Amino acid sequence: MSERLEDIAAAMSARGKGILAADESTGTIKKRFDSINVESTEDNRRDYREMLFRSDEAMKECISGVILFEETLFQKAKDGTPLAQIIADAGAVPGIKVDKGAQALAGTEIEKVTEGLDGLRERLKKYHEAGARFAKWRAVITITDNTPSHNCIHANAHALARYAALCQENGIVPIVEPEVLMDGEHSQHSIERCEIVTEWCLKEQFQELYYAGVSLEGMVLKPNMIVPGQKSGTKASVDEVAERTVRVLKRCVPAAVPGIAFLSGGQSDEEATAHLSAMNAGYDLPWALTFSYGRALQAAALSAWGGKPENVAAGQRAFTHRAKMNSLAATGEWSKDKEKAA
Ligand code: 13P
Repeated sequence: MSERLEDIAAAMSARGKGILAADESTGTIKKRFDSINVESTEDNRRDYREMLFRSDEAMKECISGVILFEETLFQKAKDGTPLAQIIADAGAVPGIKVDKGAQALAGTEIEKVTEGLDGLRERLKKYHEAGARFAKWRAVITITDNTPSHNCIHANAHALARYAALCQENGIVPIVEPEVLMDGEHSQHSIERCEIVTEWCLKEQFQELYYAGVSLEGMVLKPNMIVPGQKSGTKASVDEVAERTVRVLKRCVPAAVPGIAFLSGGQSDEEATAHLSAMNAGYDLPWALTFSYGRALQAAALSAWGGKPENVAAGQRAFTHRAKMNSLAATGEWSKDKEKAA
């Protein structure tokens, strides 16, 4: 595969394909395993992820890249093949989450800033050697009555830009993920507020990327969709989510960016698929618009697997189904009927 950043970013944004976010940190994967009563051991984590990466049809036809946690990048399958090799052999790009998590932002009660820049250059060299060709860094922005603050948006946008520049310096495509959370506790989180805050974050983000000299052609943006907060007590139609999300993205994301790959953020599997499909079906877009889902791609597979070796085929079927539905959504061709027919 070409080592040019633009070519890697284009491969990650290939038509009808999207990204599997399988980069749950040790803490997060434990929560996922707790939900199916499976102990989070190194072997169980490997078996689960190996099951996904060996879902041949899904990986070859629907998945352009896989985001890994550091442990997985250096982990080997049961037969000794590096997991990153299995991904590359399926024609997908292996990537790595490089941030060290969101920590309390000094002087605020609830806001967070993502850390991990110290020593990042050296880590990126090591990850590149292990086969990673893209990276991910996630910032989280919380909507309440009094937040986000400009301080929080700016600190996170600046860190994301420094991370992105370091990635490109080391031949790695950065996924830039400023996530406006939808799963907060707050009732003051209407879809209107989500739209205003997301626009603010993205404006700030692209300004910082410009100052840091980041090549837009060699990056992928991973934003939230414009949705009401889960605790707001309101729901929005698929068409409204699509319209607001496309409007904000068109206002903020230069056409030089090859791909935008959404996070699912707590939407149900089918909602995440329906929203993506509506955007691709209904609008003329300057970038590839696709998925980089964690929960919305894995939830069904995780429960079908349940930690039992005899359920690997069922887990793979569940994953393949979701991957196919989202692949259809990436070209605007998904419909509820196809969901049922499958
Ligand atoms: P979700 O799709 O579960 O939100 O995860 C995507 C991701 O990578 C968040 O950083």
